[in-house]
Amino acid sequence: MIPVGIDVMTFSTAHFVLDVEDLATARGVDFQKYRTGLGLEAMSVPSPQEDIITMGVEAGQRAMARVADPASIRFVLFATESSIDQSKSAGIYIHHFLGLPSSCRVIELKQACYGATAALQLAVAIIRQNPQERALIIASDVARYGLRTKGEPTQGCGAVALIVSAHPRLLQLEETSGTYTRHIMDFWRPNGQDEACVDGRYSTISYLDALEKSWKDFQSRGGVAFEEIACTCYHTPFPRMAEKASTRHAKLVGREKSLDPALLSAALRYNRQVGNCYTAALYVSLLSLLEQASHDFSDQRLGFFSYGSGCVAEFFTGIVPPGYQEVLFPEAHAHTLERRLPLTVPRYEEFYAQSLHPTFVPTPHYPMGPLCFLGIRDQQRHYSLMSSIAQKAS
Ligand code: HMG
Repeated sequence: MIPVGIDVMTFSTAHFVLDVEDLATARGVDFQKYRTGLGLEAMSVPSPQEDIITMGVEAGQRAMARVADPASIRFVLFATESSIDQSKSAGIYIHHFLGLPSSCRVIELKQACYGATAALQLAVAIIRQNPQERALIIASDVARYGLRTKGEPTQGCGAVALIVSAHPRLLQLEETSGTYTRHIMDFWRPNGQDEACVDGRYSTISYLDALEKSWKDFQSRGGVAFEEIACTCYHTPFPRMAEKASTRHAKLVGREKSLDPALLSAALRYNRQVGNCYTAALYVSLLSLLEQASHDFSDQRLGFFSYGSGCVAEFFTGIVPPGYQEVLFPEAHAHTLERRLPLTVPRYEEFYAQSLHPTFVPTPHYPMGPLCFLGIRDQQRHYSLMSSIAQKAS
C-alpha cells in the first residue's frame, strides 16, 4: 500500500499574548492554580484585526512554500469550531488568498476539537485513491469562554496547516484507528452565541472516558501495543489535561508510570504558550514534540488521541520517516511565539470586546501577518493582503 500522511505541517498564532500570572492577579486567583493546576504559562490573544482566516492564511502560506507543485492541491479542508459563516466555507477565503487552483474542492468540517482529525482521515482516504494529488488542511480556532469565567484561563488561539500527500516526509498514517462517539453536553456553542457553554469538570471526566473507550476500540481492531508507541500526543485544551491523559493511558495498560516525562514535556511546550486552539491543539502538540524533544523519532511510531466535545474521539498512530527534521520549522515557530506583544489585562478585555463586535476599519492598526481582517461591512467580512497594502503605499 502507498504510504500516505502528513508531508508538511506548521502553525501560526495571533500577534498578542497574555501572561496567565497577570490574569490570575487580576482575577484574584492564586497564580499556581493556572501555572501548576492547569499547566499554563500564557495565552495568545487575537487583535480585533485577526481571526481564524488571518491565522490560517499565515500557516497556509508557510506550508505551501514547501510544496513544489501548487497545482497538485486538489482539496482544501478547513476544520474549525469558530466558524465565521453558517453557509460559506472558511476554506474559500484560504483558497482565494493563497491563490490555489480553481480545480480545487473546498469544504469546512465541524465536530468541536475533533474536526482536524476528521479532515486528516478524509484527506488520507482521498489521496490513497489519487496518489498524485495533495490536500491542504487548515485547522484554525479562537477559544472563548467569556471574561471572569472558570474557562477564561484556558482560552487561546492558533491555526495549523497540514499538507497531506503520498510518500509523506513528516508522518505516515497507519490504517488502524479506534473511535468513540456519544451524545453528551460537556461543551457546546449554540447558534448566535460567541462564547462556549461548558460543564468544566464533566468535560474533563468525559475526555478521559473517551480516551479509554477509543483506546479499547483501537486494541479490539488489532492496534499495536502501548509499548510499540514511542510517544503519544493527546488533545491539549490545557497542558495538565494531556498529562492526566498520559497517566490514565498508562494505567489502562497496567503500567505504573506514563511515558518518558521529558517527551511529554516537549510535546506540551508550544501549547503552554498558546493556550487552547481547539482543532489545532493536537497538531500544535505534535509539532512541539518533533521540534522540542532532543530525540530522533526516525522510523518510530507516534500515537494520537483526538477529542472533540459533544463528543467524538479517535486514537490512531503514524510512523515518522527518517529525515523528517528537514521539513520542520523550529525557527519560524520560535519567531511566531516571540514576536507576540504582551497585553495588560485591561487591554486584553478591550480586544476581547472589540473582537466580538468587529467594526469596519479600512486600514491595518496592529502588527499582523500576511493578511489583515478589516471588519464587517454590508454583512461581508473584508480582508486585505499586507503585500497589496505595501504595494499601494510605495
Ligand atoms: P476550575 O473549577 O476553575 O478549576 O476549572 P479546579 O478547581 O478544577 O482546579 C483545576 C486544577 O488546579 C485542580 O487540579 C486543582 O487541584 C488545581 P486537579 O485536581 O484537576 O488535578 N489547583 C491548584 N493547584 C496549585 N495551586 C493552587 C491550586 N488551586 C487549584 N493554588 C476547568 C478548571 C479546566 C474545568 C475550567 O478551566 C474549564 O471549564 N475549562 C474549559 C473546559 C476544558 O478545557 N475542558 C477540558 C476537557 S474537554 C476538551 O478538551 C474539549 C475542548 O477542547 C473543546 C472542544 O472539543 O472543542 C475544551
